[in-house]
Amino acid sequence: MHRLLVLFHLISFVSAGILDDIGSSLGSLLGNNTASVLGTFLGDHGTVIFQNGLLKNTTACPAMSVIFARGTAEPGNVGILTGPPFFAAIAEYMNGTNQLAIQGVDYPADVPGFLAGGSTQGANTMAKLVNKTLASCPNTQLLLSGYSQGAQVVHLATASLPSNTTSKISSVVLFGDPKNGTAVSGVDASKVMTFCNPGDDICQGGDLITLSHLNYSLDAGSAAMFALGTSGAKLGITSQRLRPAAGGLGG
Ligand SMILES: *[C@@H]1O[C@H](CO)[C@@H](O)[C@H](O)[C@H]1NC(C)=O
Ligand SMILES: *[C@@H]1O[C@H](CO)[C@@H](O)[C@H](O)[C@H]1NC(C)=O
Ligand SMILES: *[C@@H]1O[C@H](CO)[C@@H](O)[C@H](O)[C@H]1NC(C)=O
Ligand SMILES: *[C@@H]1O[C@H](CO)[C@@H](O)[C@H](O)[C@H]1NC(C)=O
Ligand SMILES: *[C@@H]1O[C@H](CO)[C@@H](O)[C@H](O)[C@H]1NC(C)=O
Ligand SMILES: *[C@@H]1O[C@H](CO)[C@@H](O)[C@H](O)[C@H]1NC(C)=O
Ligand SMILES: *[C@@H]1O[C@H](CO)[C@@H](O)[C@H](O)[C@H]1NC(C)=O
Repeated sequence: MHRLLVLFHLISFVSAGILDDIGSSLGSLLGNNTASVLGTFLGDHGTVIFQNGLLKNTTACPAMSVIFARGTAEPGNVGILTGPPFFAAIAEYMNGTNQLAIQGVDYPADVPGFLAGGSTQGANTMAKLVNKTLASCPNTQLLLSGYSQGAQVVHLATASLPSNTTSKISSVVLFGDPKNGTAVSGVDASKVMTFCNPGDDICQGGDLITLSHLNYSLDAGSAAMFALGTSGAKLGITSQRLRPAAGGLGG
C-alpha cells in the first residue's frame, strides 16, 4: 500500500518528464502526427487531463465511443500514463478525432479502492455511461478500457450490467489488469485484449509497482489496432500513416 502511494506521488512530480517520454516514444513508433495528436489530448502541461466527449450534448453520434477508467492516483479523469497515448493512437488510425468520442470515468482512483478490488463508485459510473451511450447512440462502436485499478473498474462495471447490454460492447482493452486471467463478464473473449507485461506484479495480484507496470503507452498502437479491428469493418485501419507498432497482439 505504501509502495503504491510513494510511487504515485513520484509520478505526479515527474509527470512532465514522463509525458515527454511518452510523446517521443509514440512519435518514433507511429510518426510525428501521433505525437502532436497526443499533445492536443494532453493539453497545457499535461498535468490534469479530462475527456468528456460523451457528456457533451452533441447532435451527431460518434462512430466510436471510448469509456476509459484511469489507474490509481492518476490525474484528471483519464490519467496520463496509458489513456492519452491510447486515444492518440485510435485517433491517428481514424484520421483524426471527429469520428471519436472519449469519456473518462470520474471516480476517486484511490489506493483503498484498488485494495478493495476496484472502486464500486467507479464501476457504477462506468455502467451508467454505458447505459447512457447505448441509449442515445445505439449504433456507436463502444470500447471499454481501463488501466490498473481502471481495469478492475471495467470488470466490476460489466459484471453489474445485464447481458443484453454487455453483448453490445464492441471491444474491451485492459492494461496492467490486477484481474488478469479473469473473463470480462458478458463480453466474448474474442473482443477482449489484455496487456500485461511479464514481471508486472499488479497483473499477478500484487501491489508492487515496477517499471513493467508503467510503460503500457508503448502498447498504444497494438491496442488501437485491436480495438478498431474488433469494432467491425468501417472503422478498420484506414490511415495511411499506420506504421508497425510495438508489441504483438498476443498480450
Ligand atoms: C519526425 O520529424 C522529424 C523532423 O521534423 C523527422 O526528421 C523525422 O523523420 C520524423 N519522423 C517520422 C517517423 O515521421
Ligand atoms: C446537456 O443537456 C442536459 C439536458 O438538457 C443538461 O442537463 C446538461 O447540463 C447538458 N450538458 C452540457 C454539458 O451542456
Ligand atoms: C443499466 O441499465 C440496466 C438495464 O438495461 C440496468 O439493469 C442497470 O441497473 C443500469 N445500470 C446503471 C448503473 O444505471
Ligand atoms: C435490456 O433489457 C432491459 C429489460 O429487459 C431493457 O430495459 C433495456 O433497455 C435493455 N438494454 C439494452 C441496451 O437494450
Ligand atoms: C496474464 O494472464 C495470462 C492468461 O491467464 C497469462 O498467460 C499471463 O502469464 C498473465 N500475465 C502476467 C504478467 O501475469
Ligand atoms: C516495458 O518495461 C518492461 C520492464 O522494463 C520490459 O520488460 C518491457 O519490454 C517494456 N515494454 C515494451 C513494449 O518495451
Ligand atoms: C483516412 O485517410 C486516408 C488517406 O487520406 C483515406 O484513404 C481513408 O479513406 C481515410 N479513412 C477514413 C475512415 O476517413
